[in-house]
Amino acid sequence: MKRKVSGLLTALAVVFVLNAQPPVQVLLDGTSTNTVISRHIYGHFSEHLGRCIYDGFWVSDSLGVPKKDRIRLDIVEALKKIKVPNLRWPGGCFADEYHWRDGIGPRGKRPYMVNTNWGGVSEDNSFGTHEFLELCELIGCEPYIAGNVGSGTVEEMAKWVEYLNSDAKSTITDLRKENGRETPWRVKYWGVGNESWGCGGNMTADYYADEYKRYATYARNYRGAPLYRIASGANSADYNWTETLMKKAGNQMWGLTLHHYTLPTGSWSKKGSATSFDEKEYFTTMKNCLFMEELVTRHSTIMDRYDPNKRVALVVDEWGIWTDVEPGTNPGFLYQQNSLRDALVAGTTLNIFNNHADRVRMANLAQTINVLQALILTKDRQMLLTPTYHVFDMFKVHMDARQLPVKFTSPLYQVGDNKIPAVNISASKDSAGLVHITLVNLDPNKKHSLRFTLPGIKWAGVSGDVLTSAQLTDINTFENTNKVRIEKFAGARRLGEELVLDLPAKSVVALELR
Ligand code: AHR
Repeated sequence: MKRKVSGLLTALAVVFVLNAQPPVQVLLDGTSTNTVISRHIYGHFSEHLGRCIYDGFWVSDSLGVPKKDRIRLDIVEALKKIKVPNLRWPGGCFADEYHWRDGIGPRGKRPYMVNTNWGGVSEDNSFGTHEFLELCELIGCEPYIAGNVGSGTVEEMAKWVEYLNSDAKSTITDLRKENGRETPWRVKYWGVGNESWGCGGNMTADYYADEYKRYATYARNYRGAPLYRIASGANSADYNWTETLMKKAGNQMWGLTLHHYTLPTGSWSKKGSATSFDEKEYFTTMKNCLFMEELVTRHSTIMDRYDPNKRVALVVDEWGIWTDVEPGTNPGFLYQQNSLRDALVAGTTLNIFNNHADRVRMANLAQTINVLQALILTKDRQMLLTPTYHVFDMFKVHMDARQLPVKFTSPLYQVGDNKIPAVNISASKDSAGLVHITLVNLDPNKKHSLRFTLPGIKWAGVSGDVLTSAQLTDINTFENTNKVRIEKFAGARRLGEELVLDLPAKSVVALELR
């Protein structure tokens, strides 16, 4: 009887071994370190939209939280921790209706306007140029300002740049000094319009290219403040826009933008809920997210034709998941919750950007607080860090590190007849010689075993972090702020010269090789 049972067990073991998938072989090439992953890939976006600026960064005097002026310092601390490198402002669509002179001088005297893009609410202009730049100084990040092409003038934009960046005496720089700022800020990143094909003026590519050159010409370089001019680029797969801009104005810009949002259902009219979705909708979301790989590849190929030395940056200054708003909230405020699915979108997109760092040198997630794929949600005095925030925390090790090429064939994740690559990876080596690998497993049902060969990399041990949760729909709430959180990862080890690991289902993992 005993012999029969052990025979059965052996047979079962053989069946198991035959059915088990061999580990995925990954080649991480430590001998090729030509490209730097710009820290500006990890940028963020703060528009005058819903509760991002007002009741987000900028709160009422009476709110009982630590503040500098009316800037929330708990938020500043959280953003410092993830080393936010740049912050884009004031929009978005809002930028092309924003007149900077309305947002300077004594606050009580600033004009009011209607925010026609976002909910038709009244904007009191209490958060303007000085307040934004103070916020950037507190966070320790570069400002990235989008100027108004759609409804502004060349003169208005030119004077804004002079106000910000000139150290010479003029009526406009005297005004800056009267308003409390003696020295210029020397703002570097300058957007010439936003979505000029849509809310920024509904222009054709040809027309905008000419307008771009006119506005960009008079947005001057001042002493010690060369301007990095960024042209408004394509809506997702509009390759003609990139072609036209590169052909007509490619030699007059530092960067060209690309906007692409991940819609769970793929439809703008019914995007899908942030918190309630089935596996089929999750699959479609991730398929739409992975489209970023094709987008950056094809836009880069066009740019390569006009700029083979890759001088012009592809600036993906709006990306992220865009769902239906939370039930009961103002539809114009774009407030959505943030689940483990959002973390997988963030990790996957950042891996794509890292792997295209030769061309993608700046990017901005939309948007920092209380809007779209937010890092932070607030409710009165409370704030919570979303799963997406944790991904930025895990990936910050790649900032300004040298990209390491990763080669492998991903196992597939299949739903019905449709398949997508289950695993995505990027890697880098920092200035201290530490190698970091970030991995995402999109498969919600299966772990994947990986085996790395690492030519050119000297390492003795590995440690790591993991972000996952029981359900893809899991979120952090004001009642339970810590449900989706970073934990220590013990699933990786050294085996001879190789690194082996089991990548858990629906997870983001960050490894450090020492
Ligand atoms: O991020 C929200 C909006 O999406 C921005 O204002 C606009 O540029 C884009 O269409």
